[in-house]
Amino acid sequence: MPTETPRLLIINGPNLNLLGTREPGIYGSSTLADIETLCRESAAALGFEAELLQSNHEGTLIDAIQAAKDNASGIVINPAAYTHTSVAIADALRAVNLPVVEVHLSNVHAREEFRRHSYVSPAAAAVIAGAGLNGYRYAIDHLASLLREN
Ligand code: DQA
Repeated sequence: MPTETPRLLIINGPNLNLLGTREPGIYGSSTLADIETLCRESAAALGFEAELLQSNHEGTLIDAIQAAKDNASGIVINPAAYTHTSVAIADALRAVNLPVVEVHLSNVHAREEFRRHSYVSPAAAAVIAGAGLNGYRYAIDHLASLLREN
């Protein structure tokens, strides 16, 4: 019987569908499609399949995190503005007990004060901020290392 390729869930939160035209001075000119291609390729190079989700709705993100318990080995999440507001997303990440890497395109620590606090970070194994698109590559690489160790 062929073994299934292990899967990583890659989640992008609200307004990240607008990348490319959204505040390019902060977020650059790459689009969500560019991020998704990079994630697919980075995951495949390490022997994983990438499942990709972007949503502007908190409940949809939570449903996907809950479903990952049964169908993914780890999660990369850019919770976008929900980073700074969502206890529910942080609780869902803790509930599924999978390795999580939090990614931000921008350096949230060099911006407004409210962006310095993340509800998600305590539920994450690592946080990558300010590396732009490459942050997703680093996150996938780190998740793969964590999963190989276990
Ligand atoms: C972001 C940073 C958040 O503060 C912001 O609300 C976003 C994007 C980032 O990728 O830099 O929407 O998560």
